[in-house]
Amino acid sequence: MAFPVNRPRRLRRTESLRRLVRETHLAPEQLVLPLFVRGGANVRRPIDAMPGVSQTSVDEMLRDAERAATHGVGGVLLFGIPDEKDATGSHAWDDNGPVQHAVRALKRELPELVVITDVCLCEYTDHGHCGVLANGDVDNDATLELLAREAVSHAHAGADIVAPSDMMDGRVAAIRRALDHAHFAHTPILSYAAKFASVFYGPFREAAESTPRSGDRRGYQMDPSNAREAVREVRLDLDEGADAVMVKPAGPYLDVIARVRRTTLVPLAAYQVSGEFAMIKAAAERGWLDGERAMMESLTAIRRAGADIIISYFAIDAATRLR
Ligand code: PBG
Repeated sequence: MAFPVNRPRRLRRTESLRRLVRETHLAPEQLVLPLFVRGGANVRRPIDAMPGVSQTSVDEMLRDAERAATHGVGGVLLFGIPDEKDATGSHAWDDNGPVQHAVRALKRELPELVVITDVCLCEYTDHGHCGVLANGDVDNDATLELLAREAVSHAHAGADIVAPSDMMDGRVAAIRRALDHAHFAHTPILSYAAKFASVFYGPFREAAESTPRSGDRRGYQMDPSNAREAVREVRLDLDEGADAVMVKPAGPYLDVIARVRRTTLVPLAAYQVSGEFAMIKAAAERGWLDGERAMMESLTAIRRAGADIIISYFAIDAATRLR
């Protein structure tokens, strides 16, 4: 039956009606705030292309995390910036590194807040690649053991979830084995299963000081053209023991989120990355967009596509609006 019997506008007439029939909901506890931690005290270094986001020392990080917790944000995702970098990224598994310190401080001060750690070598290697190099290429199998060491070090510090973002083949299995062996059978793995070689990571690389010195990441991160392959990556990670999976970036990959949602039962996370954040902020600064509404609409779209968890630099701002 068509018009004039059918009039979809009837249910859009008032805000109360719209609220009653709303299909997608966003809640603070579904949001995760990324944090960049470095050594020292009283350090807060703003990141140019990410207004409101800074690299901080652990003491300052605690203030941000506390604000997140107060507003009901579900968790934080930690990235570390070490004082020194080397060819193997050995500071990644230093039990006294910034991430390990931050995890211990968070579990002591804000035990309810879920602490997720990013497991990758790119912030720790002097060449900026996500694994060790052999003949100028990233050596997949040699990297696995190092990632496993890093994950165990994070779990040992008290991380609630470890999240490998390197895109090496077999890393979920290697990390699972190492965690179990070190008596961390209870520590879940959230794998960045479908992580694309995206230009939208640009501002993050300034934040994490992780731009590759030569070449790019297309030899390990996925080709932005591939959606079927994303489903394959997810299946492989689940076979290796991933407890939850991630699609990244989020906004330009809503179709991938929807596809992964249809084919898997585990919790699905999506990462609204630095470039997605920067675009909205830049347009809002120029008065070209209503920044708040763009924030909420972009997050709602990611939920609508099927994400259970959203990692976003907007986490606190969005949570504030939702309360
Ligand atoms: C790599 C990593 C990256 C991001 C998260 N983990 C960058 C990369 O692969 O170059 C990007 C996050 C963002 O852009 O916000 N460890």
